[in-house]
Amino acid sequence: MLVRRCAVLFVEPREDLDVDWAALFAGQGAIGATLQWVALAPHLGEEVVVDAAELAALGGVGLTLWQEQADYEARFGAEAIARLLATGLLVSDAPEGAALRERDEVLRSQHWRPLSAAVHMFSRWADMRVDKGMQFPSFEELVENYGTPPDPTINRRDDGQAITLPPPQSGKLDDTLFQRYTGRNFDPSAVLPLATASRLLQRAFGAQGEREMAPDAFVLKKLSPSAGGLHPTEVYVLAQRVDGVAPGLYHYQPTQHALEPLTALAPADAEQLALRMVADQDWFVPAPMLVVLVTRVERNFWKYRNHAKAYRAVLLDAGHLSQTFYLLATEAGMPAFVTAAVNEVDIERALGLDPLKDMVVAVCGCGPASGAQHTVEMRYEAK
Ligand SMILES: Cc1cc2nc3c(=O)[nH]c(=O)nc-3n(C[C@H](O)[C@H](O)[C@H](O)COP(=O)(O)O)c2cc1C
Repeated sequence: MLVRRCAVLFVEPREDLDVDWAALFAGQGAIGATLQWVALAPHLGEEVVVDAAELAALGGVGLTLWQEQADYEARFGAEAIARLLATGLLVSDAPEGAALRERDEVLRSQHWRPLSAAVHMFSRWADMRVDKGMQFPSFEELVENYGTPPDPTINRRDDGQAITLPPPQSGKLDDTLFQRYTGRNFDPSAVLPLATASRLLQRAFGAQGEREMAPDAFVLKKLSPSAGGLHPTEVYVLAQRVDGVAPGLYHYQPTQHALEPLTALAPADAEQLALRMVADQDWFVPAPMLVVLVTRVERNFWKYRNHAKAYRAVLLDAGHLSQTFYLLATEAGMPAFVTAAVNEVDIERALGLDPLKDMVVAVCGCGPASGAQHTVEMRYEAK
């Protein structure tokens, strides 16, 4: 049998503090620290605690060449090698190791920067419910707990050398820019007209042109910038109340300007899914249309392979798309939202995505405002 190490692995010496309450009440030293080695292998997506013998083996097995399992057993002990194979930190060519080997191969095929893969895979949420009481704690509570925040601005010169600029002139974008705000009080009965949804999707996420940069190497022109011109962000729509579109999940196809139906949902199920997607932030759920931004990493990493900046770049791409979406919603007279507090794992399941290939980044949405102010919003107030 041949084995090698998984492609990407980080090991964290984790410290857990334990409070011994009995010792505390007896007036003795009450805090103990437990240290353990935690292996973070992105292809597994879950942490594995390893012991010193297993750690030594992980340090001694290469990730490129396949070597005889028996040789490693002779060096590191059969028990350590067996456990590492069972957890997937080592992979083998044995038929019973096929599933874990395949996950490692998927990771290898995407050209992830190792640290980026670890950050991505170990920062996803599953079934997280934000504590609603704490989601918008008053600033008074925050100040009580953490002290005052860092100042909102800084000055790098306080010697009178700063050049005071003339007031900005008005411009065509002003109305939209000043009216934009994050909506948290959507009208739960409003239906989004199809024409509005169509313009929003096409202008925010659709292709305005296509160019062949080299034989069979195509890029799209969109109305937001994208690293390398690659536009790796896919758009999935959760339609709740879009005129003429049955409630459900869709993939937005940007060159055909079409919604590809994935899963039809009863309205109540669509609402439950919306709630789950945004980790229980119920103020976003009444939006008639939600949009999930998902990076197809292979498209960006094709050019920026194993690249230190690629992960930052794809996150920035999604940020640009969300701002364009906000501005288009504003133009249509509606608030929008974006949130990174999302249950990536639940979204992956709902959309049938592999997180090693498809990176759920954010959820946006928009819809008419209800006019109520149950949840805080930051609208621009003219002086
Ligand atoms: C990356 C990102 C993540 C955000 N996440 C949340 C969130 O989880 N919940 C929420 O209610 N708002 C979220 N927002 C919205 C911000 O709270 C909002 O932009 C900010 O308070 C300023 O208000 P404005 O957008 O109305 O100007 C997020 C915004 C960004 C850019």
